[in-house]
Amino acid sequence: MANLTDFCVQLPKIEVHAHINGSLSPQTMRALVARKVDMNPELAAFEIPDSLDRIDDFFSLFKFIYQLTDDEVSVAFATQQIMEEFAADGVRYLELRTTPRANSAKGMTKASYIDTVLTTIATKCPAGMLTKLIISIDRRNTLEEAQYTVDLALKARECGFPIVGVDLCGDVMKGSFEALRPAFERARQQGQFPLTLHFNEVKENMHEAPELLSIYPERLGHATLLDDPSRAIIYERAVPVEICMTSNVFSKTVPSYEDHHVKELLEEGHPFILCTDDKGVFGSDLSNEYVLAANTFGLNREQLFEASFKSIDAIFANNETKDQLRAIWGAWKNQHQDLFTE
Ligand code: IMP
Ligand code: ZN
Repeated sequence: MANLTDFCVQLPKIEVHAHINGSLSPQTMRALVARKVDMNPELAAFEIPDSLDRIDDFFSLFKFIYQLTDDEVSVAFATQQIMEEFAADGVRYLELRTTPRANSAKGMTKASYIDTVLTTIATKCPAGMLTKLIISIDRRNTLEEAQYTVDLALKARECGFPIVGVDLCGDVMKGSFEALRPAFERARQQGQFPLTLHFNEVKENMHEAPELLSIYPERLGHATLLDDPSRAIIYERAVPVEICMTSNVFSKTVPSYEDHHVKELLEEGHPFILCTDDKGVFGSDLSNEYVLAANTFGLNREQLFEASFKSIDAIFANNETKDQLRAIWGAWKNQHQDLFTE
């Protein structure tokens, strides 16, 4: 009989909300610091804090993290490490996401950044796991920058790379979706890209909800705070929600695990996918998110399997891929009946 943690590691899982630069493990960060500390001694002093007072403090951490992935070799190394860590944690289907970033001092352009990530995915993805990429548009982008991100997505897909969607992310207090809407509309119309939008993380964002929902996003990230009209639309359309419990508790956008809004989704039978968001910053693997959900809401192993299995419905993939994954989940369950007795 396996303990709950072992069960959750072994359980085949879907991860669809993982920002590359938020997913650097402490080991990966240390390796990148070692590579760069001679040129930049200040890096040696940095540590990820144990908790944050406010979500604003989270976004400022990236001023440090981005110094670690400021060249193509580091980006490739980070991407490979992240894939290996997710695979070791039992993830069988991974949608990474990242914002194209340039650094002229090291000859990295936004195009070469994305090319590096995609080439690493194509050549270094561990056996037994599929990896795809969602391209992120940062709220602070100008419309021109956002359109360029869409250009990159369209071009990469033309070259046969697995870009599967477009995300809206970034500092919740900055920018506006409306200013960037034409880029999302073009991604949808020209590329048929499904959209996932970080949604209502904090109360200051809630006024944007009608605009975000009016583009018919295929998934929503967090959806922490719902007013009645948003809730009605999300339930009626059954929009799957990417749930990142530790991220929300760590950033203090929800008061505690017990008060997490996934409780309401569980009660309603609304589709959700347990995810990590930024496993490097928040120090929680996907298997740990399943443990937390089980311990907080009393889910048994059958229910954990069901949550993981149902997540397949919400991935940005065609029906053939979904059916293949369902078959893998089914076979795993048949072979591991012994793990279901607690
Ligand atoms: P990157 O896109 O790979 O560089 O990953 C880091 C970026 O993801 C950060 O700079 C943020 O813009 C974004 N990000 C990570 N977590 C969150 C979140 O919870 N809300 C909004 N944006 C986020
Ligand atoms: Zn996120």
